[in-house]
Amino acid sequence: MASITDISFRKLLDEIGSIGLMVSEMISAEGVNRLNKRTLDMMRSFEFNTPQFIQLFGSEPEPFVNAVKYIEEETNFSGIDINMGCPANKVVKRGAGAFLLKDPEKIASIIREIRKNTKLPLTVKIRLGYSKVNVFEIIDVLENEGVDAITVHFRLKSSRYNEKANWEYASLIKERIETVFIGNGDIWSALDAKEKLKFVDALMIGRGAVSNPLIFAEIAGEKIDSLRFKQVLERLLELIEEYCNPEFRLAKLKAYTRFMVYNKINSKKLRQSIYNSKSFKEAGNYFKSFVL
Ligand SMILES: Cc1cc2nc3c(=O)[nH]c(=O)nc-3n(C[C@H](O)[C@H](O)[C@H](O)COP(=O)(O)O)c2cc1C
Repeated sequence: MASITDISFRKLLDEIGSIGLMVSEMISAEGVNRLNKRTLDMMRSFEFNTPQFIQLFGSEPEPFVNAVKYIEEETNFSGIDINMGCPANKVVKRGAGAFLLKDPEKIASIIREIRKNTKLPLTVKIRLGYSKVNVFEIIDVLENEGVDAITVHFRLKSSRYNEKANWEYASLIKERIETVFIGNGDIWSALDAKEKLKFVDALMIGRGAVSNPLIFAEIAGEKIDSLRFKQVLERLLELIEEYCNPEFRLAKLKAYTRFMVYNKINSKKLRQSIYNSKSFKEAGNYFKSFVL
């Protein structure tokens, strides 16, 4: 997740454990080709226990292929995830992210070239479609090109977050798909996860993991209490200080706060105090006060 699953957040989750796979923020394939400093900074890694994939976005096969070769040779990431779901204007207008869902042939050409040029595991993240559902066609194309897993976020590009993710598609897809099938959208608790795992092979959790980084441990059956939650928040603050440049720390904390408020009592007041804070230290003191 852009500006969320950076090195500090992934390290936090790696320390908590109980996770099968983690994915980086989405990274521009072109940026990797240009060895752009900010892009390389986003690709920093650490000695991890949980496999870490890099997610790439782009619109043409060649930059993807070069980026994948670079990742295979120069980094310790364990695999590649291709973003075909991002709805952000600045991404879509460049023909990347969810825009690709409109063009199954282009998808085929991109995946074919990447597949030919790397031995790393290759997964793809898609949505149900751009403005109409074509997920079945896209899945056929991806399976044909030999991807290792497909994540479906059960919304269209044009859907908003206030519309529920359309999990009715999960069982329809599961009937036809042969590749590992990962479901995504609106998993906020261990109970949600248990319910949704009936329809898919695995789950991808986004905002729910920011709201509660212990969600994976809970799904694995651990009992979580408020003390443990407080320790996690304190550790996240430490990791932000360790990995993030001082000028970006406050913005980072505000980005986490946006999702931390979910499922919390009295969280709106805390959010306002964090948004009004002038320093990372001030915001951090409020941040530590969130209670699960
Ligand atoms: C702030 C933010 C950043 C995101 N960045 C990415 C991204 O870089 N790559 C991606 O595949 N999805 C991204 N997403 C989408 C999430 O991965 C996920 O598909 C979506 O939020 C629905 O799942 P959830 O309900 O578990 O959050 C982002 C979502 C948010 C809210």
